[in-house]
Amino acid sequence: MKPQRVAVLGATGSIGGSALDVIARHPQRLSASVLAAGRNVDALVALCVQHRPAHAVIADSAAYAALRDGLRSAGLSTRAHAGDEALCALVAGDACDSVVAAIVGAAGLDSTLAAARAGKRLLLANKESLVMAGDLVMAAAREAGACILPVDSEHNALFQCLPDGRLGAAVERLVLTASGGPFRGRDRAALAAITPAQAVAHPKWSMGPKISVDSATLMNKGLEVIEAHHLFGLGNDRIGVVVHPQSLVHALVEYTDGSTLAQLGLPDMRTALAVGFAWPERIASGVPPLDLIAHGRLDFEAPDMDTFACLRLAREALDAGGSAPAVLNAANEVAVSAFLQGRIAFLSIPAIVESALAALPPVEIASLEAAREADAQARHHATRSLSRHARA
Ligand SMILES: NC(=O)c1ccc[n+]([C@@H]2O[C@H](COP(=O)([O-])OP(=O)(O)OC[C@H]3O[C@@H](n4cnc5c(N)ncnc54)[C@H](OP(=O)(O)O)[C@@H]3O)[C@@H](O)[C@H]2O)c1
Repeated sequence: MKPQRVAVLGATGSIGGSALDVIARHPQRLSASVLAAGRNVDALVALCVQHRPAHAVIADSAAYAALRDGLRSAGLSTRAHAGDEALCALVAGDACDSVVAAIVGAAGLDSTLAAARAGKRLLLANKESLVMAGDLVMAAAREAGACILPVDSEHNALFQCLPDGRLGAAVERLVLTASGGPFRGRDRAALAAITPAQAVAHPKWSMGPKISVDSATLMNKGLEVIEAHHLFGLGNDRIGVVVHPQSLVHALVEYTDGSTLAQLGLPDMRTALAVGFAWPERIASGVPPLDLIAHGRLDFEAPDMDTFACLRLAREALDAGGSAPAVLNAANEVAVSAFLQGRIAFLSIPAIVESALAALPPVEIASLEAAREADAQARHHATRSLSRHARA
């Protein structure tokens, strides 16, 4: 059997590292043929030395020469490329069979869509592309026969609890669990002085900075509700959220006969990635089995939607439909980036998102251009509101 050739997009990130770890455990079955990153050339070259892909792509065109020279001086035959167009061409072409879509943010939309349109096996971590243009991505995958394997741990868990990974008539409700983030149990006043270092220190998961802040605001769970809606086709009212601080139960499916199926495992993304690479088979991921006796207890509670307004805003955006989720996502990306740079306070994140949603009434998203336009308008609005929220 020839190894499955995998394009790892966002190779230098947290999911990218986990994906490459699983790939390296199965040299007969998997090989990294394309590695792509944003601008971190040194880390990308180091990964190429380790994994020897045929192609390496850096998004930042200004870094092309550094990538080419770095690969050459490491004695590699890996071909250097730069820019989103080159990445999409490689994703759609013969260089790979599978694509791990793990670029952070709306920047991942074009390559996710290219993989879907080309009918690739698509291991989808980049939830923002579904939030921004879920109908377009899902329609493209359906038309081209692309198989989408959700990598987000909750959606991967739902996929595992559903027969053939698909919703049947007997499913009543999907339930996503949330760790509650580092500030679970605090009230709004206690969130006013939160620093970026406190916000990225997630109690259970080791992740990139943007999704860590999203977990702290609960926006991550809101984005995941929208993601679940697109992946599995259920409405907002049939996608529940339960806070589960141990992060051992990742999601549950409630069936019409009163059964609830859950998927459990340690909080380590390599499980979801191994499922994505091998499904319907199973392969080793490097994640140890779950010792329930050692963990001792599983707790569950309702999310605090008043203190963590982002989850409410995401649900409202899903109900509003059209461009509202794209606006929510773009305003959130601008606000989170400003928060991480120390320019605005933690509580300004929901305020900026809410203001963008109020200012930009939803319009229909029938094309990629319409999604991009909604994204651009929301970024513009959110960027302008930063000065009103600037820290003294
Ligand atoms: N981490 C998790 O456990 C986890 C769980 C579920 C879902 N996800 C989702 O997976 C995605 C990645 O998350 P992460 O935590 O792995 O993020 P991360 O650690 O911040 O890594 C982001 C990756 O994206 C690359 N990148 C950034 N901008 C880019 C651009 N314009 N073009 C191409 N590549 C670009 C970065 O490259 P540079 O290093 O060069 O900047 C890096 O490789 C997000 O959508 C997140 O919501 C993550």
